[in-house]
Amino acid sequence: MTVIDLGEYGEEFTANPHPVYTKLRAEGPAHLVRTPEGGDVWLIVGHEEGRAALADPRLSKDWRSNDDWEYGELPVSANMLETDPPQHTRLRKLVAREFTPRRIEALRPRVQEVTDGLLDAMLAAPDRTADLVDSLAFPLPMTVICELLGVPDLDQEAFRVLSNEAVAPTVNDGKNTSVREMGEYLIGLIEDKRCTRPGDDLMSALIRARDEDGDQLSPEELIGMAFLLLVAGHETTVNLISNGVRTLLGHPGQLAALCADFDGLIDGAIEEILRYEGPVETATYRFTKEPVLVGDALIPAGAPVLISLASAGRDPLRHAAPDRFDIRRAPQSHLAFGHGIHFCLGAPLARMEGRIAVRSLLERTPDLQLATESAQLEWLPGMLIRGVRHLPVRW
Ligand code: HEM
Repeated sequence: MTVIDLGEYGEEFTANPHPVYTKLRAEGPAHLVRTPEGGDVWLIVGHEEGRAALADPRLSKDWRSNDDWEYGELPVSANMLETDPPQHTRLRKLVAREFTPRRIEALRPRVQEVTDGLLDAMLAAPDRTADLVDSLAFPLPMTVICELLGVPDLDQEAFRVLSNEAVAPTVNDGKNTSVREMGEYLIGLIEDKRCTRPGDDLMSALIRARDEDGDQLSPEELIGMAFLLLVAGHETTVNLISNGVRTLLGHPGQLAALCADFDGLIDGAIEEILRYEGPVETATYRFTKEPVLVGDALIPAGAPVLISLASAGRDPLRHAAPDRFDIRRAPQSHLAFGHGIHFCLGAPLARMEGRIAVRSLLERTPDLQLATESAQLEWLPGMLIRGVRHLPVRW
């Protein structure tokens, strides 16, 4: 079986993987590839096949089930995204009620207030320029998830460095140092909360949580839950906001239409950003428990599999003229939040934050522009997250 070496495309693949995905889709829905970091995995690039794989119980999320996978036990791994049923069902059930659309809707005034405060500070810059990631896209979701969890004193900058490295590693020595350090940090944070500062928040509720059967989270599961919610709660939404603003600025006609009718178009704009330039490029690793046929590719048992959500969003068999960015597209579901039992728990929160951030920013800066050439933007490495490290803007 020939392995397609994605590393050969170099930086170009990181800056714009779509031409490669288009070529791969034309050849079939699944391919054995070497990732830019050097591992061999099966990459699913078609929408229908990706959707089926995301919900296929023959694909395990539990890397412990794979003897050949040298990931090593990490202090944060006991989380719902790295487990299969029945553990997954149990862990997800303990927090699912906190993330229902109704519970999230109650956070709307606070999300607007945090956004307004961040924009006040950003727009006070005398030279009328800012890095949108530092000023809005990062601090908004980070503040919201910290408040929701009840860890407002979390050192956001220190956490940001570790978390960035965890999802878009610049060092691939197999030691996962940043993830380990984050585990240590969270152990301290949880101990502090347990002993001295229990409150009315999600972390305290999880520490106390018992389900009807008297089931309780173990200390490892608490750390895993805090890790997952903190990392998933901001790394993705940061790039929804920055990818969204960057894409709109690159499509002036769409931007003008949105600014002329926020009430009518903001929801569609966020869905189109998720489809066209979603923050999660590939879903997290899965492993085949038995041979699985995808198209005419037989993926053997015990093989790692990645599903390209970015490629699925541009699959012409699903979306007409997929490379056209059109915020008035007829609603058509996409895979940007995944599918099946691991479907994003935070989707209602992410959508609300994205809508409020993009709308509030554009309402206050109708003349917003990129303050750099697109070619100068630094892209996050790796295939998990799609986005730029900084987004210089002026108004
Ligand atoms: C635009 C922003 C976001 C995007 C695009 C996104 C995307 C995703 C995707 C694709 C998955 C499934 C991964 C897989 O199956 O391998 C996922 C899972 C998850 N997301 Fe999000 N996410 C976003 C924001 C959030 C937020 C704000 C939170 C938390 C507050 C969150 C919490 C989670 C959790 C807990 C899971 C695991 C669910 C499970 O395993 O059952 N996400 N997300």
